[in-house]
Amino acid sequence: MVAAARAIETRRPDALAQDVYAEHFVRGARSSAGWPVRPEEVPDGEANPLWGRLGRYFGLRTRVLDDHLLQSTRAGARQVVLLGAGLDTRAYRLDWPPGCSVFEVDRGEVLAFKHEVLDGLGATPKVVRRPIGADLCADWAEALLGNGFDPAVPCTWLAEGVLLYLPNLAERGLIDTVDRLSAAGGTLAYEVKVGWEQPEVRDNPVYSSTKQQIGVDLLALFDREPRPDSAQDLSSRGWTTSVHTPFDFTRRHGRGPRPEPNDALASNRWVFAGTGQRSPRPG
Ligand SMILES: C[S@@+](CC[C@H](N)C(=O)[O-])C[C@H]1O[C@@H](n2cnc3c(N)ncnc32)[C@H](O)[C@@H]1O
Repeated sequence: MVAAARAIETRRPDALAQDVYAEHFVRGARSSAGWPVRPEEVPDGEANPLWGRLGRYFGLRTRVLDDHLLQSTRAGARQVVLLGAGLDTRAYRLDWPPGCSVFEVDRGEVLAFKHEVLDGLGATPKVVRRPIGADLCADWAEALLGNGFDPAVPCTWLAEGVLLYLPNLAERGLIDTVDRLSAAGGTLAYEVKVGWEQPEVRDNPVYSSTKQQIGVDLLALFDREPRPDSAQDLSSRGWTTSVHTPFDFTRRHGRGPRPEPNDALASNRWVFAGTGQRSPRPG
């Protein structure tokens, strides 16, 4: 679904982000082969709650996090870890500074599908890329360390579109691991929802239309446990944090979703955190 949104965004005349690989993932999977990948294929165009409004949200998120990762690596981070990387093609499409490595952590079968599509296109990464099949609910740090990740080298971590689906304990464990494996100059960006939404928000067309058009019940996929306050957790560990709504970036870019009544995007937060100049980590 996110790949289809990125494919459509790529062809918008005022695109916020470009991903030429995205449409091939959509066409390459039987379940999504008939979904739209161009603006002109979207029924009702921009008024479509899924491919219009939520799709634009994904376009804005992609752009903001593209910018963030490039900024962090240009400032000195030499490792990038994409947690729940899914069909993220940043390793193939962004102009990374020399000497960077991108680690992509996701389930083995998701990465296998990704490789099948990208290999079929003859795509080559623009960076050293290390895919790691691992479960974010288990001990994924071992797999990362076993694949060349160096905790002494500054890293920029990204958890885009994944913490919403993980149990409370897995999110806490993820924050703990990121903190433990981060040297000075490290950053972390992630997306969360604050709190479980009220019934009138759960009735928002973004949810009903997604279920009706493509059979994806987002509300059933979100983890329903009370969410941890990871920004607070990071602050207490000495990280600086800044918490944004997506609408902050809609204003900044002059494009993107705008608030609406009973908004399914109102509880979404994009959090940016940095270690600053911390002392070397023990162990
Ligand atoms: C909505 S997708 C987002 C993918 C990507 N970050 C993006 O924004 O395009 C969520 C991803 O998280 C992965 N994921 C969910 N739970 C996971 C787990 N327990 N371990 C590893 N990956 C997981 C899924 O396989 C999927 O690729």
